[in-house]
Amino acid sequence: MKLVFATHNSKKLIEVREILPTQFQIESLVDRHFHEEIIEDADTFNGNALIKAKTIFDLFGESCFADDSGLVVPSLGGLPGVKSARYANDEGPVDHLANNLKLLDALNNERDRSAYFITVICLILKNGEIKYFEGRVEGTISKSMQGDKGFGYDPIFIPNGYENTFAQLGAEIKNEISHRARALNMMKDYLVEMF
Ligand code: IMP
Repeated sequence: MKLVFATHNSKKLIEVREILPTQFQIESLVDRHFHEEIIEDADTFNGNALIKAKTIFDLFGESCFADDSGLVVPSLGGLPGVKSARYANDEGPVDHLANNLKLLDALNNERDRSAYFITVICLILKNGEIKYFEGRVEGTISKSMQGDKGFGYDPIFIPNGYENTFAQLGAEIKNEISHRARALNMMKDYLVEMF
């Protein structure tokens, strides 16, 4: 079965290909020579995943999926949330270091440092059926940046049950418990049962 993954991100593509069985042939937007940026301006993760998946579905008319992820800090009213990539800088390039520092600063006097990463995948099948899969990993925000692996908020996120940040723990552990892996595994179970 062929599935178009609405991403230009080669790291995500590798992760998805590793998780889904080989009977699913995954093609990215780069494989499809689609280089435009899709504007994600919804205020929910589901909304943004739908925008991306629907854009690709309308274009190619084939089964496809898109993901949207972010970090949610309840004591900050859910921030950085859907704005995770551009928390420190609304325009211009994504600056992960600035995002981490801004979040540490925002939590400076906060006792509740709990947080979770979330991924929502929107799958649209060739017949137009729409399904959502949501994965989360709960944890806390550290007091300072630690570790050099991963990306984004990994240097300040300590998953529950561990004492180190994702950036210290590395890909093997992260890929077992991450929000993205959980959502992908849910989609995998659904697809394997359906096809
Ligand atoms: P995306 O929707 O997967 O592109 O994620 C949006 C933003 O959320 C990223 O730019 C990061 O700031 C943050 N984020 C999502 N997933 C992760 C993760 O696994 N580790 C660290 N940051 C993440």
